[in-house]
Amino acid sequence: KEADRGAYPYYMLKEIDEQPAVLHRIQETYLENPAQPAIGADLLAAMKQADQIYIVGAGTSYHAGLVGKELFERLAQVPTQALVASEFAYADPMLSQHPFFIFLTQSGETADSRQVLVRVKEEWHAPSLTITNVENSTLYREATYQLLLKAGPEIAVASTKAYTAQIAVEAVVAKALGMAKQIANAKQFDLQHQLSLAANAIQAIVDDKEEIKQIAHDNLATTRNAFYIGRGVDYFVALEAALKLKEISYIQAEGFASGELKHGTIALIEDQTPVIALLTQKKTAGHTRSNIQEVQSRGARVLRIASQNLAKPGDEIVIPAISELLIPLISVVPAQLLAYYASLERGYNVDQPRNLAKSVTVE
Ligand code: G6P
Repeated sequence: KEADRGAYPYYMLKEIDEQPAVLHRIQETYLENPAQPAIGADLLAAMKQADQIYIVGAGTSYHAGLVGKELFERLAQVPTQALVASEFAYADPMLSQHPFFIFLTQSGETADSRQVLVRVKEEWHAPSLTITNVENSTLYREATYQLLLKAGPEIAVASTKAYTAQIAVEAVVAKALGMAKQIANAKQFDLQHQLSLAANAIQAIVDDKEEIKQIAHDNLATTRNAFYIGRGVDYFVALEAALKLKEISYIQAEGFASGELKHGTIALIEDQTPVIALLTQKKTAGHTRSNIQEVQSRGARVLRIASQNLAKPGDEIVIPAISELLIPLISVVPAQLLAYYASLERGYNVDQPRNLAKSVTVE
């Protein structure tokens, strides 16, 4: 059975390892015709009307929405915002003329996200799509349209494969919409190929997990805090990477936009503070390297996660280079493993962190 832990000590590790298979399943489900992703004609027609897309989620799903913003803007040329459900539920937004709402939710049961969906229907009368892992869940049933993540049951409280599945399915939808709108970027974007590259890259990273275990042992066993830094989508991944670390290792971890360090947060850097930098975007990697020097000269212990094409000698974790738009699918994986091994190292129950629930059905 898919929900069996098998020989794995924790579900989280099993679910990290399953990510290449999840990407393949998404390819099989939606990309049988790679040029024309199968998301349904009605959904596509509704999305074509949208002058703005609002992606709503909580926790890890919100972080997947941040990456989605880039995908929808680049591939489909629709202005897109990612929104924290619990904030948006009680906000007074100035919505566009023809808003379209996307709900990202692994469980399909998050009360904060559902509260937004209620307003979408009752107050704003706008169309909605729920992208979820659970068929017939509340948000699945209540949205106008629905797509499944196909990630298989996710048991560990810390979400891993649902995050990567959400990004992949967002890419499917963005590509479909871009194709329908004849956007050149969408036509040129070989999603099928990129997902295959991503699956292979993740496989290579998880095959090498002992290396990351050692890095966690050397850097995260006793530290009180740790920071992830990056720019653009690297910043979005930094937020998710830091959340993983907080959730299961209880290290006070934060994700920062690396250019913002000097405007305040660099004050937090002490001797030996771990700072983990993400370097996957050509336009900004050089700037982030300057920020690395700034923290290093204040005593930080820096670890670099760099894509192959941007890597320099000495970078601690080098990941294969794929499309910069989809690289979050793979750059997050070392961070998932670092969190897992940091939690183990500190002697915690990885799958059941204190104070957290897999699905939160209260506001
Ligand atoms: C809980 C979980 C998180 C998850 C969030 C949103 O807080 O612990 O891992 O990201 O809910 O859940 P959803 O099911 O809506 O994706």
